[in-house]
Amino acid sequence: MLKNLLMTKPIQPAGHVDAGEPVEGNLEGESHLRRTLTATQLLLLGVGAVVGAGIFVLTGQAAAEHAGPAIMLSFVLAGIACAFAGLCYAEFAAMLPVSGSAYSYSYATLGEGVAWFIGWCLVLEYLFAASTVAVGWSGYLNAFLRTFDLALPAQLASAPFTVVNGELVRSGALLNLPAVFIIAAISGVGYVGITQSAFVNSVVVAIKVTVILLFIAFGAQYIDVANWQPFIPENEGPGRFGASGVVRAAAIVFFAYIGFDAVSTAAGEARNPQRDMPIGILGSLVVCTILYILVCAVLTGIMPYPLLATPEPVSTALDNYPDLHWLQMAVQVAAIAGLSSVILVMLMGQPRIFYTMARDGLLPAFFGKVHPKYHTPYVGTVLVGIVAAALAGFLPINLLGEMVSMGTLLAFATVCAGVLILRRTRPDLPRPFKVPMAGVICPLGVVSCLYLFVQPFSEHWDLLLSWIGIGLFIYLAYGYRHSTLRHPKV
Ligand code: ALA
Repeated sequence: MLKNLLMTKPIQPAGHVDAGEPVEGNLEGESHLRRTLTATQLLLLGVGAVVGAGIFVLTGQAAAEHAGPAIMLSFVLAGIACAFAGLCYAEFAAMLPVSGSAYSYSYATLGEGVAWFIGWCLVLEYLFAASTVAVGWSGYLNAFLRTFDLALPAQLASAPFTVVNGELVRSGALLNLPAVFIIAAISGVGYVGITQSAFVNSVVVAIKVTVILLFIAFGAQYIDVANWQPFIPENEGPGRFGASGVVRAAAIVFFAYIGFDAVSTAAGEARNPQRDMPIGILGSLVVCTILYILVCAVLTGIMPYPLLATPEPVSTALDNYPDLHWLQMAVQVAAIAGLSSVILVMLMGQPRIFYTMARDGLLPAFFGKVHPKYHTPYVGTVLVGIVAAALAGFLPINLLGEMVSMGTLLAFATVCAGVLILRRTRPDLPRPFKVPMAGVICPLGVVSCLYLFVQPFSEHWDLLLSWIGIGLFIYLAYGYRHSTLRHPKV
């Protein structure tokens, strides 16, 4: 059995792109393969996927409860871990331009067992992230509606469960209705097709980045440096301020970087993946890191950090500045639009990873079904939409966010290890992009991702292990028996 679990999927050098990958307009085969995405579009796709609930929502609580103004440092720490992983993703994506992302990379390097495990972790990264961001979207929508006295009652706009001292308890609310609504609406877009989705994404990214730049430019004029003192508030217990708080907050705001790797899922649709994958992945990471640090500087500079723990901190920070009321409205609109684009990328990515796994026989064939008219993986899209809506409707954002971060960090660590392994096992493969000083960068990537992983894992290990247990059961009950690698169709 161990031999089977370690069996790797043979890889072809770039150029022999796997013909049946889900591509723009079609999922069926080589004759329909369309490579249309340029480097700029890939970068926009990355920024569209990255800038979302992490900066618009989670930053507030991370600053208020864990890091204070040093939340800026937390972003630097999380950004460094992502840069290591980003370099490794870039090497893989340029070499293997297929849609399955970390799942495909681990299938080629570490074997089927690890590939399944990573595919299962990616469900946390994509499906759960869509739900997390939908909850953030709901918070901003309600803040916006409040301006017009139209806000939904809290009972219909927040989760019926919340986490108190590590336990999931009833909150008194019924359902987060707006969060369910936005998942349903965006699943509808994903059902109809990726061409429309890429267009909507570009418009929304432009709005989101413009408003963030306005927030930085106008907010900076109101910074009171006294709000940055003390820069690292004194430690009040494990993970509450002090150095441990900065690291704990880094693990939370790591969520804000998730999504740059979504660029790699579009490798099958890139016009020139060898050159453009690294540009798309690393470029979006650099742009976002700079934006985040500046937003945090303004956020903690214009409002004392303890007051930022709201569902819409970027808007809350402007509460005391009537002159900037217009900006507050703009932030709310940009967040509502911007978070939608993140949900879109996540909800597009998940069915495509399932599609790849179904083609490998690791998931039931219906995940590989293609809509006769829209040419999208429609069964997967609908199923993912239903599950994501249920999670968004019932669970609180912090819990969802931590699950996402844990799954993603495991996937990132594996990709970093995979680069080194493949350098040894397949030195012959052409590598259009190579991680510089791989002997140092890859191990640092593994260690930094696992270090961040341990932070939420020590609190939520039971949930994560249950998730992995469910995945193991599905693999043994289905994937192990149907893998096309070991049971080739004749
Ligand atoms: N990075 C994405 C966000 O912050 C997932 O919403």
